[in-house]
Amino acid sequence: MYNEIDLDKIDINSEPPTEEPARQYYFMAKCREWVREFEEKHGRRPTACTQTFGCQMNARDSEKLKGILLQAGFEEGDEEADFVLYNTCTVRDNANQKVYGHLGHLQALKKKNPHMKIGLCGCMMQEPEAVEKIRRSYGFVDLIFGTHNIFKLAELFYQCLARKEMVVDVWDGTDQTVEQLPAKRKYSFKSGVNIMYGCDNFCSYCIVPYVRGRERSRRPEEILAEIRRLAADGVKEVMLLGQNVNSYGKKLEEPVSFAELLRQVNEVEGIRRIRFMTSHPKDLSDELIAAMRDCKKVCRHLHLPLQSGSSRILKIMNRRYTKEQYLELTDRIRQAMPDISLTTDIIVGFPGETEEDFAETLDVVRRVRYDSAFTFIYSKRTGTPAAAMEDQVPGEIVKDRFDRLLRLVQKISSEVSMRDAKTVQEVLVESENDHQKGYVSGRLGNNLLVHFPGDVSLIGRIVPVKLVEPKGFYYIGRLASEADDMQDNR
Ligand code: SAH
Ligand code: SF4
Ligand code: F3S
Repeated sequence: MYNEIDLDKIDINSEPPTEEPARQYYFMAKCREWVREFEEKHGRRPTACTQTFGCQMNARDSEKLKGILLQAGFEEGDEEADFVLYNTCTVRDNANQKVYGHLGHLQALKKKNPHMKIGLCGCMMQEPEAVEKIRRSYGFVDLIFGTHNIFKLAELFYQCLARKEMVVDVWDGTDQTVEQLPAKRKYSFKSGVNIMYGCDNFCSYCIVPYVRGRERSRRPEEILAEIRRLAADGVKEVMLLGQNVNSYGKKLEEPVSFAELLRQVNEVEGIRRIRFMTSHPKDLSDELIAAMRDCKKVCRHLHLPLQSGSSRILKIMNRRYTKEQYLELTDRIRQAMPDISLTTDIIVGFPGETEEDFAETLDVVRRVRYDSAFTFIYSKRTGTPAAAMEDQVPGEIVKDRFDRLLRLVQKISSEVSMRDAKTVQEVLVESENDHQKGYVSGRLGNNLLVHFPGDVSLIGRIVPVKLVEPKGFYYIGRLASEADDMQDNR
């Protein structure tokens, strides 16, 4: 992670160093020089804005990108900033469409401010077709890079300053992870921590392995050192991030299981809550269930993507578990932790999905009774095996199934997710409430939102809250007094 270094001590008139991260510090210092010139000319510092599309992994990458920009001297700005950087997602087509939509808007802004620089990075940029389309139809974009070289932002931006034409630097893959760079956390009190990058699972519908590359785990010492530093900096909650955390560490020189890592993170002083994302059911071990049960700081919440309830479809999806194995796994988890919240991801309309297959999905939803579920309409991703499959399901059938699934998920969710009503639970206070003055909002261990009267001094603290009013998907509460019983919750 980042140790403050004095950029002003770097000799920017010498040749850039070849090794990382020294090279990037050099370019941050170069950018700073440009920032000073900008400031002299315009009477203000240049502003930068990073916007994230996509998952927690991208959100964490954006914090690193923002860290680099602030270090280089930029001030934080909005969409009208001097440098706007979109960190893109391509998991479903609507993620791509959103980016194209926003680009149209940026073009108009750039006409007003011709000095504005526009950058695109992230998963969508790993697709040659997308880059080609941007070159062809969005020539006003200044900078494109991918998922493997975000650490190079300072160097790439500096290149951009000197060049009129688009700078494009997209890598096919990497075994290089450059970690010792700044990051600007969105929240002072919680942070994502990458424990691994990439994915080797190749679920047949999914583009992630193609745009994020092969699975690479960070060494536990590095992860723990980062978490200790975060704790020292006031972070109370960490979210361990990986596309499949359950296969963490298997390929390290000295293999370490995810369960072992979890136990070690649990020992870090100052950290009060541990979450992780995402667990693949095929790799979820009894050892992990035991670690979750034993570790007091691990939140009683597990996101366990189902994708489909039909064993036949699961096989074609290359998920490598059956409906029965999934159900048996959730039984084992609930036996060990009866109070656990389970959430999931489900895809509707995978090629060849029949009404019978879909009925199996509904059946699993009824049996598991998820606290909540993200439901997605299958989106064809070029280059994945599923895109070439015959039998793509017609749109209106998919829509009908999607609506039925959503209704069921919501009905069950409203029944189960309010089970803590009237109890006192620990809440990590996150922000002022946008809608109601004098209220703050925070999260329970199982991730549900709670709004209650309170002031900003509570933000970042974990406080006991009585969950007075269940509202279906969130609670209204009040700070608990000593007279209220405290439950053992996480
Ligand atoms: N690594 C995680 C998920 C990453 S993508 C896992 O394996 O669970 C997040 C979710 O997007 C997936 O769980 C899946 O439900 C959905 N998804 C991925 N590809 C999709 C596609 N082509 N169409 C629709 N949904 C998709
Ligand atoms: Fe995609 Fe499957 Fe990897 Fe998740 S495990 S990122 S769904 S290929
Ligand atoms: Fe999207 Fe990339 Fe995440 S495709 S879901 S941002 S890994």
